[in-house]
Amino acid sequence: MSRTGLPRIPKIAFGGDYNPEQWPEEVWKEDYRLFDAARIDTVTLGVFDWALTQPAPDVYDFSTLDRVVGRAAAEGRQICLATGTGAHPAWLARAHPEVTRTDFEGRRHRYGQRHNSCPSSPVFRRLSTELARRVARRYAGNPAVVAWHVGNEYGGACYCDLCAAGFRGWLRDRYGSLDALNAAWYTTFWSHTFTDWAEIEPPSALTEHWRGPNHTAFQGITLDYLRFMSDAMLANFRDELAAIRESSPDVPVTTNFMGMYRPIDYHRWAPHLDFASWDNYPPDDDSPAWMALTHDLMRGLKGGQPFWLMEQTPSYTASRDVNPLKRPGVMRLWSWQAVAHGADAVLFFQMRASRGACEKYHGAVIGHAGRQDTRVFREVAELGAELDRLGTATLGARTPARVALLFDWDSWWALEISDGPSRLLRYQQIVHAYYRALWAAGTDVDVLPVTADLAGYRVVVAPALHMLKGDLPQRLAEVAEHGGSVLTTFLSGRVDENDNAFLADVPGPLGPLMGIRIDEWDARGPEVVNPVRLRDPAAPAGTGADDETGDEAAELEVEARLLFELVIPEGAEVLGTYQADFYAGTPAVTRHAYGAGHGWYVAAGLDQPGVDWVVRRVLERHDLVGPYADVPDLETTVRVAPDGTRLRFLLNHGTEPVETVAHTAATDLLGGGRLEPGESIRLDPRGVLLLREENRLPSTAVARDSEGAQR
Ligand code: GLA
Ligand code: ZN
Repeated sequence: MSRTGLPRIPKIAFGGDYNPEQWPEEVWKEDYRLFDAARIDTVTLGVFDWALTQPAPDVYDFSTLDRVVGRAAAEGRQICLATGTGAHPAWLARAHPEVTRTDFEGRRHRYGQRHNSCPSSPVFRRLSTELARRVARRYAGNPAVVAWHVGNEYGGACYCDLCAAGFRGWLRDRYGSLDALNAAWYTTFWSHTFTDWAEIEPPSALTEHWRGPNHTAFQGITLDYLRFMSDAMLANFRDELAAIRESSPDVPVTTNFMGMYRPIDYHRWAPHLDFASWDNYPPDDDSPAWMALTHDLMRGLKGGQPFWLMEQTPSYTASRDVNPLKRPGVMRLWSWQAVAHGADAVLFFQMRASRGACEKYHGAVIGHAGRQDTRVFREVAELGAELDRLGTATLGARTPARVALLFDWDSWWALEISDGPSRLLRYQQIVHAYYRALWAAGTDVDVLPVTADLAGYRVVVAPALHMLKGDLPQRLAEVAEHGGSVLTTFLSGRVDENDNAFLADVPGPLGPLMGIRIDEWDARGPEVVNPVRLRDPAAPAGTGADDETGDEAAELEVEARLLFELVIPEGAEVLGTYQADFYAGTPAVTRHAYGAGHGWYVAAGLDQPGVDWVVRRVLERHDLVGPYADVPDLETTVRVAPDGTRLRFLLNHGTEPVETVAHTAATDLLGGGRLEPGESIRLDPRGVLLLREENRLPSTAVARDSEGAQR
């Protein structure tokens, strides 16, 4: 378990992956001159140095790494030092072919690429641990080393015989007996009863799967293999962690995560890291809410403790089919967005572009020509200067969220490996729609595991909470009992931790809280729309768009797609009804008074305006709509510094300027100057404001004021 917390740094760490071993030493001198110019204070070193540091089975040669580390320290940089096990050396694969992976189709790979080691291979485990041990022993005393970086972007999967054996051992630990395993996997179906542990094969294209990793005949075995593979790689991480600890008990250890990365259950990993770090390469260049969700997920890994942005490209990636360039201002904006969501480091991949191999066209702070007068370098240097000026203000600051969004790898896996009701339902998209609604409302959100303590939250949103584990239903009920709101959706409360259906009405143990039951459901292609009419529960009955005298906002018709659950209220009030098909007029959205609070259920795949509407009704009840909600393209977050100072970030993701009005007195920490309440604020396209708020209006007044001001 984690012992040391965050790296001790005097300001937001700024820099990134640096691979001077790819270059002659004359170049290093120039690199540091440029680092000075850009105020680069942190370098991540040695991520792929295994073959250099251990060129042969019995030879450890630290001469290169000594010079690389020594130079960085002499130049006054902080070092995030990698153990170097992100890729194994060619000699290792040749000497021990079992260190390479066997893929889903059953092909044993030969030497090549990276992230290529079988997590169950004893040779890999022994040698990776030994390398980590030696690296740590050699550099632990170097005060420039502020963090250890284990491996690199753990992921993928292996289906070899060693993994099969590891899987069987993992299953014995989990189930104790074959009877328990057979029950969990429901093996009476299709004559699958296992009578010997040795009969169990990894679920792959050769065994339970067809069409691919999501199409399995037995969800139980596939789910357990996903869990096992995540645990097997966690064991690799922990091997190295333990080896580092032998000589470096106090320097924090991390590994770079990949955000919403399906194969690894980061919630199971998080307790073993001292601090979380991740690499932000969003799927496209227009997804601020997607990135925000991922930052919040990463911050949630360590109970809200700040994380490090370990990698982002300053300009473009290279691995996509098409690699767009970050527009002017976007690198700065996204860097501040990370900080706004809890990052204490802003790091790039990478400092100097590789000359060859597959990343030669990947963006870097310093390009092949080594120029300082490029737009990218200039923007990096400007950000470096800005971070320098800011100093300690945001370090260690926490997000004061009263809204929790539950994110669960088990539910993700179970939902996406399910046959029925629809392959078109994607967990991330469902979660993102709800997160985006919260984000647009300007409320701070903690994205949490289902095991988190929910007691401090007024609103808990749990989209597609397919699997219910442990005492979660009870803890959700308690949130509502104490006056909070719990919002969940279609496909929630369906299965237990073994992915077996509850022998009860849907949504299983959530039924009493939601005050509904679901007898049947209808999945349709994306072209089929069933409109849903929504009615504001706060509006008096009889008002609505239909009603000449009614308030227009009281009713709204939105579109629903993909899945339509047929809801029978058992105490819940109906806030939205289907408008078409044989179930026209039946409930699609319900709210159930439970204790002093509510259980909300959205039974259909509402479009974004529909999700926004529901989420807004929930937030309004708790007065949690932010002061700048509804200003188009404007994102806001709050962090509270250890001394209690409230810091508000305003981020304009749009290409047009944004005008709004200050809701409270504040000091502009980046631009300088003071703002009085009611004073107009202008953000340039991609502009960022960081405000130290001096006092705070009651937030209801704030919300009304700013809404008024926008009209
Ligand atoms: C990942 C890796 C890096 C590099 C970048 C390129 O995040 O960790 O080594 O390959 O991608 O985008
Ligand atoms: Zn393997």
